[in-house]
Amino acid sequence: MISLPKKVTIIEVGPRDGLQNEGQFVPTNVKVAFIQALKKAGFTEMELTSFVSPKWVPQMKDAAEIVDRCRDDLRNIVLAPNRKGIERVLESNCQAVAVFVGVSDTFNKKNINKSTAESMAELVPLIHELKERGLFVRACISTAFYCPYEGKVDPDRTVQLCEQFVEAGVDELSVADTIGMATPLESYALFSKMKDSFPSVLLTAHFHDTREMALANIFAALQAGVDRFDSSVGGLGGCPFAKGATGNVATEDVVYMLERMGIETNIDLQQLIEALRIVEPYLSRELTSGYYRLHKQE
Ligand code: HMG
Ligand code: MG
Repeated sequence: MISLPKKVTIIEVGPRDGLQNEGQFVPTNVKVAFIQALKKAGFTEMELTSFVSPKWVPQMKDAAEIVDRCRDDLRNIVLAPNRKGIERVLESNCQAVAVFVGVSDTFNKKNINKSTAESMAELVPLIHELKERGLFVRACISTAFYCPYEGKVDPDRTVQLCEQFVEAGVDELSVADTIGMATPLESYALFSKMKDSFPSVLLTAHFHDTREMALANIFAALQAGVDRFDSSVGGLGGCPFAKGATGNVATEDVVYMLERMGIETNIDLQQLIEALRIVEPYLSRELTSGYYRLHKQE
């Protein structure tokens, strides 16, 4: 008999991971309307934007305005890669921050222009400061399974990096298959190990759907006891600095699968469609999630 969680928390990352890879700037008003429509769907946690260099990711240049206009009592998470990003987070009065590091040095260098060790040397004292100020801190672990430049990543290296974050005091680990190469057995193995190793932090799985294995990987992670998943409405997303990365697993497909299996998400599927309608005219790519495609044909 398979044992699965009865309830799952979905962290919507569409406004951040979903939009960061869009070449054309999505107007700030559209982003705000998109976020507000998503909030109506029932999310309690969402990545709103990122305080990264606007030269590196011009799409995120309106981060301060987004935070200012979308603030409420929910867990609104913003990404920050370095001290400058954290300073901007504190100025914006945001209460939840995500730092991000790749297990693979080559990826980390391409993404944030530092080795993994250099990033950790900068981030660990910053995490202490953030915790002293009472912020919620999430650590996003990129290339946890595979790196587009270095190939397969040793799971022990992923666990060791997570250990450093847990020792630094983070509240959550979001462990990512950045280029969608993991298979369900790898997902089960890594997340089982993570569950055993880090019982005191929130553990979240972040799957990109490059090879259409994300739902299978989620099913495997559920069996390992994971009950938190990042996803992006419409299957939008991808890291601009990870060669071959495409969208996150689509939120509507995850919600559909979980609800059909009797696992509660508290997310309103129809409202996800409403949110997608707001942003779709501004996107460069076609939305291919199974649920949305069928919905449009009806
Ligand atoms: P750098 O060029 O080495 O930075 O980039 P620098 O410290 O030399 O600064 C260069 C300029 O950028 C300076 O401005 C700084 O002030 C400014 P200038 O003097 O030239 O006018 N700057 C900043 N401005 C605003 N906000 C900041 C900031 N930092 C410096 N935070 C840097 C280093 C980290 C800034 C750059 O590499 C960067 O912004 N990288 C972000 C890349 C990114 O956003 N990637 C996508 C998110 S991660 C992801 O998607 C993966 C995830 O989904 C999980 C998964 O799927 O794997 C989370
Ligand atoms: Mg991602």
